[in-house]
Amino acid sequence: MCGIIGYTGDKQAQPIILDCMRKLEYRGYDSCGIAVSSKGITLYKDAGRVEALVKVIPRITGSIGIGHTRWATHGSPNRINAHPHLDCSGKIAVVHNGVIMNYQKLKKKLTIEGHKFRSETDTEVIPHLIEKYFQGDIVEAVEKTLSDLEGSYAIIAMVDGESRLIAARKDSPMVIGMGDRSNYIASDVPALLDYTNRVIYLDDGDIAVVDPGKVVIKRDNVEVKRDEQKILWSVAEAQKGGYEHFMLKEIHEQPRVIRNTVGEYAGNGEQSIKLPAKVSSVLFLACGTSHNAAMVGKYIFEEILNIPAHVELASEFNYYRRTPDYDMAIGISQSGETADTIRAMKKIKPTGCYTLSITNVVGSTASRIANQTLYTRAGPEISVASTKTFTAQLVVLYLLAATSPKLDTNHSTHLMAGLRQLPSKVQQILDEKAPIIDCAEYLKNQNNVFFIGRGINLPVALEGALKLKETSYIHAEGLAAGEIKHHTLAVLNADTPVIAPIGHDNTYEAMLTSIKEIRARGVPVIALAEEGNEVVEDLADRVLFTPAVDPLFSPVTNAVILQLLAYYTSKARGCPIDFPRNLAKSVTVE
Ligand code: G6P
Repeated sequence: MCGIIGYTGDKQAQPIILDCMRKLEYRGYDSCGIAVSSKGITLYKDAGRVEALVKVIPRITGSIGIGHTRWATHGSPNRINAHPHLDCSGKIAVVHNGVIMNYQKLKKKLTIEGHKFRSETDTEVIPHLIEKYFQGDIVEAVEKTLSDLEGSYAIIAMVDGESRLIAARKDSPMVIGMGDRSNYIASDVPALLDYTNRVIYLDDGDIAVVDPGKVVIKRDNVEVKRDEQKILWSVAEAQKGGYEHFMLKEIHEQPRVIRNTVGEYAGNGEQSIKLPAKVSSVLFLACGTSHNAAMVGKYIFEEILNIPAHVELASEFNYYRRTPDYDMAIGISQSGETADTIRAMKKIKPTGCYTLSITNVVGSTASRIANQTLYTRAGPEISVASTKTFTAQLVVLYLLAATSPKLDTNHSTHLMAGLRQLPSKVQQILDEKAPIIDCAEYLKNQNNVFFIGRGINLPVALEGALKLKETSYIHAEGLAAGEIKHHTLAVLNADTPVIAPIGHDNTYEAMLTSIKEIRARGVPVIALAEEGNEVVEDLADRVLFTPAVDPLFSPVTNAVILQLLAYYTSKARGCPIDFPRNLAKSVTVE
């Protein structure tokens, strides 16, 4: 989703801003722009990628500026709608991430008052409002503007002739990077890693006045203190490191990510899991891939801990009239910024239930809402398609069970042993990719692919379909294997392969039955089964073998195979794997 960047300091702003904009690309965008101030504001923006903009813009001198990567919501992705937006005088420039809900009303009023609008965006009302209220003090003008806005925003405002930037946030992520005689503002941390690892996360309602030498944060016109945090992610972690794509690199990082996340909470780790003593019902809230992890979480809670668990899509939960009673709600979000998940967590918290967040981003909004946060130790994930953060989320969920006082020592020792073996099992898959690549060559020509699963591998089937669809643009659907005979058999034929991750658990026989039913109708089946399983080998058209693991952990091994399958299929089809069209890494609007 939109990315914003601001710089003020003793260096030339343009190269820094463009560099940071490139680092924000992974959030997903369709147009971009930059404004630099030095005796007048110089603005360049257009539809398309940052690289295209870089090619056409001349060198602009100036040591203060703002940049934006836009994911269109109001108005199509074209030059006029791209940010930054200016006021009538051209002296105030603004970039914005979020949605201003009452912009039409404001626009009408401002137009009557003589303001001329150029774009179809909601954002453009902001520079005009600042212009209306500006009487020499930009901070005061921004404060007044914010009190008129309804909706969500992370904004940076720049006024010509000043060396300070004004940043404000409400329900949209924003971080201030503290440098040496230079300060930065960004939508998220990976954009800043080359410049600083000292950051301050703004809270909703904060206004930051960012000068080259100092940062002052205000709330209701009173200065407040926000702690500086040190980012542990390295620059190298946010680079491709010799891999062709971030997605492939991130898939390959999984053995280390699993080891680090297990190590974080068990052994010499820095964090510990402290759940409330009595939890008899759990609600999971999440979106996208994190929702599929939450579905695995439900099985873990119910099967291992015998605690009833329920999973809700955050985007649906937010519209339920009744807020149900649960002892504990677990919000799962890689970014910790997904608008629907944040809203759902805010909705459930006042019911008095204990809130836990599982996220990859230290200081993210989810972590600040929750009573407790369990961080996945996956490092920055750049590819829009989540891979390593999905497995890291699963690992945290397994750890929640393995460390629970509800389990006897033998059971938890067994689970911990299984978890500690996972990195080598995943490595084995990564070392033997040839059959997966061969299978991708077959899939690349398909138009429709179905994924079926049962039990703890149903979420894996859903995740396999999600991954293939978003990266390769092949229509893919995941569904419960038992459901196919109620509808999907009607559309299956020789051109609609079915992929079946099999769990070697109580669902095993039923999965074989489903595969037989499908094969009997001439539909090709690609099964995922444990190495050495000749029964499945005889039954399916193709088998992708997985190393043997406790069936409880099969979502990890099966998911890694399906991630690789999606990656190589997308590669064979020539897709822009890391940045699928129209999708965003961090979905910060509803
Ligand atoms: C976007 C991303 C997905 C992700 C989903 C939820 O759609 O493209 O990869 O699963 O958001 O994101 P979250 O950060 O909450 O896990």
